[in-house]
Amino acid sequence: MTTATTTTTISQHDFYGDDDGDSETSISVSVIENMKEEYGLFVWPCSVILAEYVWQQRSRFRGSTILELGAGTSLPGLVAAKVGANVTLTDDSSKAEVLENMTRVCELNNLNCNVMGLTWGVWDATIFDLRPNIILGADVLYDSSAFDDLFATVSFLLQNSPDAVFITTYHNRSGHHLIEFLMVKWGLKCVKLVDGFSFLPSRKASLLSGNIQLVEIVLSCGKSAA
Ligand SMILES: C[S@@+](CC[C@H](N)C(=O)[O-])C[C@H]1O[C@@H](n2cnc3c(N)ncnc32)[C@H](O)[C@@H]1O
Repeated sequence: MTTATTTTTISQHDFYGDDDGDSETSISVSVIENMKEEYGLFVWPCSVILAEYVWQQRSRFRGSTILELGAGTSLPGLVAAKVGANVTLTDDSSKAEVLENMTRVCELNNLNCNVMGLTWGVWDATIFDLRPNIILGADVLYDSSAFDDLFATVSFLLQNSPDAVFITTYHNRSGHHLIEFLMVKWGLKCVKLVDGFSFLPSRKASLLSGNIQLVEIVLSCGKSAA
């Protein structure tokens, strides 16, 4: 369902515990989007897929400390908060409108997430205090000129929390090779790689397109399997 007010819309995202939509095991998240502005004010397909993964693995997320990078409209982090995670949502520190929208979206869903600016490759004091169990990032690998900064930040956060994992969804436009190369460069390794459509319910898959992959990444000297 989408409600329109000028260029701003509120989209509703439903997650069902089983195929018949049993309300006992279902959640709904509302997201404020703005179609004409920033990348971070739109729910991208990678976000729909990562949010579904969080929902399907909700027992893993319940009680965990989650950090979402480049969260934008924040659907995966909001689902994690709904299932009982302690969530910090972050985006580029210079994107005040995106950060304000993240706060509004938390209020809309009655969720108490932390919202903060975190620009990849920038070492503000706040980043040193972050100790997530799980780092999320949907469609954060879209501009190759920013890949090193993103991986530098992910590598730093994983070294600060060596048992943590980075779970990201991305459009696989030119093969997995560049990401493989950067993982080696930044002391990281892939412990899981799946087709993003392989676990998506057909009613959601039919609305999306593209070659989207989900990877779980850890420190290469850390744990070996997720
Ligand atoms: C394609 S959008 C994805 C947004 C959201 N995760 C989703 O999938 O709907 C990329 C996001 O990364 C953020 N971003 C881009 N460059 C960044 C940087 N250098 N540091 C932090 N965030 C950045 C953008 O503001 C935007 O929210």
